[in-house]
Amino acid sequence: MIEDQAVPTIGVIVGTTRSGRVGRGIADRVAALVDDASQADVRLLDLKEVALPWLDEPRPPADGDYQREATRAWAEVVAGLDAVVIVSSQYNGGYPAPLKNALDTVYAEWNGKPVLLVTYGMHGGGLAAEQLRTVFRVLRADVTEEAVAITIAREDRDEGWQLHAPSEVVDRHRAELVRGLEELQGKLEAARARVAS
Ligand SMILES: Cc1cc2nc3c(=O)[nH]c(=O)nc-3n(C[C@H](O)[C@H](O)[C@H](O)COP(=O)(O)O)c2cc1C
Repeated sequence: MIEDQAVPTIGVIVGTTRSGRVGRGIADRVAALVDDASQADVRLLDLKEVALPWLDEPRPPADGDYQREATRAWAEVVAGLDAVVIVSSQYNGGYPAPLKNALDTVYAEWNGKPVLLVTYGMHGGGLAAEQLRTVFRVLRADVTEEAVAITIAREDRDEGWQLHAPSEVVDRHRAELVRGLEELQGKLEAARARVAS
């Protein structure tokens, strides 16, 4: 968590894990823009690499009595982030299961966390963003009003369904991302002021 005057850490979480996903390329570009636009230490957290096991805690994570080593390790990672940018696709009107698992596995570590949502899909992934807002409300995180909804058109993809240029796709939404990051920064500063007072 934020200590007085410490450089904040912003985690960019990659929400999709399937082979052939475009999520990593999008998240890499988002992370680079976050790095440019903030004074923060930016940490990319790719859920494919984190490889969190499916939630298997005997007690609800809200009790905070984590039994599994993997849960404790994930709790430490999340606790070490001062703010989070979620980069997620929309899957069938919602968001991907590995991301839900990452959210559900711990609880207190999300409380009060400033969060910016970046979703993508054929129509910007707004339904995934809606679901994420609902879940983060229950996790008592602090989600920005501004969100980034990246539309991926057929022409953006090649025959293998990969993006020709992930950076160009993300950069079309640079203005929203910068506005979202400003709001995130405001929440970070408010958290810093609370710790200092
Ligand atoms: C299981 C699945 C469900 C999808 N559902 C939606 C959807 O509801 N809306 C949408 O716009 N695109 C949908 N798509 C298309 C995705 O936006 C597109 O495949 C995107 O590249 C997925 O992100 P990823 O490549 O990082 O996995 C779906 C794709 C998958 C694999």
